[in-house]
Amino acid sequence: METIKLQIDKVFDFVKKDTIYALASEAEKNNKALHDKTGKGNDFLGWVNLPSSISSAEIKEIEKVAEHFKKKCEVVVVIGIGGSYLGAKAVIEALSNSFYMYQKQNDYPLVLFAGQNIGEDYMAELLQVLNNKKYGIICISKSGTTTEPAIAFRLLKDHLENKVGKSAAKELIVAITDARKGALRTLATQEGYKTFVIPDDVGGRFSVLTPVGLLPIAVAGFSIEKLIEGARAMEEATSADKKFDENIAAIYAATRFSLYKSGKKIELLANYHNKLAYVAEWWKQLYGESEGKENKGIFPASVNFTTDLHSMGQYIQEGERILFETVLSVKDADNNVAIPFDQENLDGLNFLAYKRIDEVNKMAELGTLLAHVDGGVPNIRIEIPKLNEYYLGQLFYFFEKACGISGYFLGVNPFDQPGVEAYKVNMFALLNKPGFEAQTQALLNRIKE
Ligand code: PA5
Repeated sequence: METIKLQIDKVFDFVKKDTIYALASEAEKNNKALHDKTGKGNDFLGWVNLPSSISSAEIKEIEKVAEHFKKKCEVVVVIGIGGSYLGAKAVIEALSNSFYMYQKQNDYPLVLFAGQNIGEDYMAELLQVLNNKKYGIICISKSGTTTEPAIAFRLLKDHLENKVGKSAAKELIVAITDARKGALRTLATQEGYKTFVIPDDVGGRFSVLTPVGLLPIAVAGFSIEKLIEGARAMEEATSADKKFDENIAAIYAATRFSLYKSGKKIELLANYHNKLAYVAEWWKQLYGESEGKENKGIFPASVNFTTDLHSMGQYIQEGERILFETVLSVKDADNNVAIPFDQENLDGLNFLAYKRIDEVNKMAELGTLLAHVDGGVPNIRIEIPKLNEYYLGQLFYFFEKACGISGYFLGVNPFDQPGVEAYKVNMFALLNKPGFEAQTQALLNRIKE
């Protein structure tokens, strides 16, 4: 099987190859520290060996529960936020028909998401859809106490129980949470829900290859075995004993760190395939939460091309020169649609007649790459042979491994997220949550000023 490919030559006008390769031994050391668990955040490194350690019994159990949902449900609502939703959403969006909401593509339930926002209209509209559907719920929260999914679960549990009765509802709810702690664990034990455990040593944004990502992906009808197989191949390809120049995760990490040091503070993940938009959302969480701390870190942003070339293209070409671009390019499109010849040629498009749309897209990609490099935007390119479970598994593990190595380059703990708490404290204080009285008073005084 092929692997995804990394191309970095279009950064050498900005940082020399030697500068990047001078980081080789540090990158190897960082990679080894992830495997030996000797670096910062070493109690959250369970993801490093997840692909090779997941057992076939675990996979079968997940597939069994997915089959249960398939038999019973037209729709399955996955409740979760951040790392408890983005991995599954990324795979489902990447592999589904672009119009799957309007055109059923298979016998599998439609997977919808909730608890990833606090939108009253979103929830009202979801409940309207569910009034007429046979549905189930997968509630995912590692802490078991996150407000957004907790609100969604309270509403949906109530709705489902009223619709089918409490004992039938129990058979349609699965909780994925900590083995012991948190309100979701307590509730699941009390109600007798089927549960899956999120390992203690795997943080939310690294959890796509645990039941957090795997169960919703299996419910949507995609092969979790192939996803894991791909991740396993990348685990092997980036193992601790790999030399720098044969480890694409280490090379990517060293390249982006060199660019950061040279003043390129923003990384734009660009795709030329509409289905990759949520892979970019997953990637943004992974890198943003892992690196953005201690007043350091590359700001991860994303663009969907060619769509955003007609909006963000101007800034990328001529705005402040603080950007570099990482392009996700899918080598082969799944379908074959050629542009027809037209006798009249009023649109002047006959120079494209009989060419595949993907060929035009590829030339747009190449032309943009060269223009952006000419405009002062270094370019990293990642080629994905095909958009399927296997290569997505490779891609996820590749980005995770590079993220760990990158975090150690920066000298931060890539596996915590202390900054996420600040908004929660203010929100709870403003909502008068018991225990937050002092903060409530302090905020009210500030607002009055
Ligand atoms: O990466 C993280 O840790 C966070 O984004 C969490 O995944 C997110 O906040 C959801 O947390 P939980 O699964 O505890 O509800």
